[in-house]
Amino acid sequence: MKEPFYVTTPIYYVNARPHLGHAYTTIVADVANRYHQICGQETYFLTGTDEHGDKVVRAAREEGLSPMVYVDQVSKLFRDLWPKIHIKYDYFIRTTNPDHISIVRDLLQKIYDAGDIYFSEYEGAYCFGCERFYTERELVNGRCPDHKTVPEVIKESNYFFRMSRYQDWLIEYINTHPDFITPDRYRNEVLAFLREPLDDLCISRPKSRLKWGITLPFDEQYVTYVWFDALVNYVSALGYPDDKRFKTFWPVAHHIVAKDILKPHGIYWPIILKAAGIPLYRRLHVHGYWNVDQGKMSKSLGNVVDPLDLIDVYGADAFRYFLMREMVFGLDASFNEKSMIQRINSDLANDLGNLFSRSLTMVHKYFDGIVPQGDAAPESSLDRDMKLYVMKAIGDYQKGMESFAFHKALVAIWQLVNYINRYIDITAPWELAKKKSQHKQLQMVLYNILEGLRVIAGLLYPFMPERCLVMQRHLGMPSAAHFQKLEDLRTWGKTIPGTKLPKTITLFPRIEKDNLKLSRRGVPATEPSFEAKPEISVETFQQIDIRVARVLHAEHVRGSKDLIKLKVDAGDVRTIVAGIAKSYEPEDLTGKQVILVANLKPAKLMGILSQGMILVAADGDTCRLLTVDSPCEPGTAVM
Ligand code: MSP
Repeated sequence: MKEPFYVTTPIYYVNARPHLGHAYTTIVADVANRYHQICGQETYFLTGTDEHGDKVVRAAREEGLSPMVYVDQVSKLFRDLWPKIHIKYDYFIRTTNPDHISIVRDLLQKIYDAGDIYFSEYEGAYCFGCERFYTERELVNGRCPDHKTVPEVIKESNYFFRMSRYQDWLIEYINTHPDFITPDRYRNEVLAFLREPLDDLCISRPKSRLKWGITLPFDEQYVTYVWFDALVNYVSALGYPDDKRFKTFWPVAHHIVAKDILKPHGIYWPIILKAAGIPLYRRLHVHGYWNVDQGKMSKSLGNVVDPLDLIDVYGADAFRYFLMREMVFGLDASFNEKSMIQRINSDLANDLGNLFSRSLTMVHKYFDGIVPQGDAAPESSLDRDMKLYVMKAIGDYQKGMESFAFHKALVAIWQLVNYINRYIDITAPWELAKKKSQHKQLQMVLYNILEGLRVIAGLLYPFMPERCLVMQRHLGMPSAAHFQKLEDLRTWGKTIPGTKLPKTITLFPRIEKDNLKLSRRGVPATEPSFEAKPEISVETFQQIDIRVARVLHAEHVRGSKDLIKLKVDAGDVRTIVAGIAKSYEPEDLTGKQVILVANLKPAKLMGILSQGMILVAADGDTCRLLTVDSPCEPGTAVM
């Protein structure tokens, strides 16, 4: 029996519309959840909204609404957005939910009865923007580090949670459970906080100042405040303490948060759990921040990225892919629409999309769209290598997924995409198709390609669920399968010969220049700039001999960071030196079809005679090779 899996996102404040940052965390949780589903585990995915507090009251007032009407509206924006980006959660918790409120009150009473909550007068520097007191140490030049305002000194009697009592215990726990908080940098950050004496946590507000909260069970005049309410959602959503869901899922709880709320999750929450006699969560996964245009996303800068604007233009799965591929989990990343387009065009439209359509086109062309027999011919070392490579890619993918290194899992899939593209180029099914005697060989090669694609679609499912189900349908998987389990992916031969495949489609349309105009609100569209060139006649253009060539071999030019030496078949075999080393590794190039200017006057580069030039789309330091959208004979003219 496999261990279940429980994943949570932070519950988001309802004083702002959902943006890119919220979308990222929720997509990560969804990817992790779906991954554990394909591993055959029982899963539970929780997200929701944090609806109490001063800020909400103020935001509601600004809109002329009651707090309840206001929170209903904003919470709905989150619930409406998630399915649009293919997020499939099990439960959406709201802190205004009566069940949650009653569980928070029970827990508070329990901790109060145990003597860990006390009443005391407190005078301190209070930031109204953050709704919290700051210690001297936390202020920067006497100002709130977030709002840059000088806090007001206020005096108030309040309830405090005796966190200091648990400081040594927590340090010991973190030291003996190295995976409790990851990546390491955040674990170290928590341990660094804990090197300083831990202040007790103020957990209440008098009702005279704030009514929009949960009334303390032991004092009607007070409401509980922020963290004691919000953090408890992770257990109240499971029906703590008696519900079966709590018993099944709490022991395997994985929280995902960004670094902004590391302290509440890494310090307050474990201590609250300990004080309440609840076992600790299993793991806290902390990611970095998405910055936009080099800076923090903020309403006042007008650079808040609305996920809806992006998915309308680029598609939800492509948007998910970009976020998961671009951010190294744990580090900050920069969001930029131009790099998103580049990735969609190169990784999705070119590499994966082309592989998919060229493969299916061949099955339609040579076998009338019917899956051929997989063991039609004796297996060659090429076929054996391919199967081994597929298994290795699955292993690398799993390592990445288990350690939340999602970008590495995706790199493993793309290595497989490139491998299969090369397998096609080397086995050259279009050549096999020319001879009747090689028909069985052709059957087997295409079967192997379909199997490779089946594995790719299965591995990619957690990232791009909708596109992958479309892929699976086009690969002839029974629709009832929904998604394939990792176990099935490890088993070669699940594609059923004789299955009739539907007509092929374009999986990921290229984003053309015109689409850029459909950029999101607030951020100007990035138009590529063109250098003005003189007009030329058709006759002049026709003097250029442009051909399709196939790369036979590629290697770095010694002593150069930019140059790669290529041996290509362009109808004749020649050497080309190309300045593409910043964007390609030689092993990515072998087997690729490129476009060559064949009658350019030969020139020596680093002592090597280059007999032509391959064409690329260049954008600053990065470049993308021009290619053909389905296989061509080397030497075919480009008109
Ligand atoms: N309500 C609290 C959380 C309570 S959890 C018990 C809260 N809400 S929030 O709306 O401010 O959400 C913060 C979370 O949103 C971050 O931890 C992160 O998950 C996500 N992000 C918000 N902005 C982000 C970025 N710019 N980049 C990445 N994620 C960010 O804090």
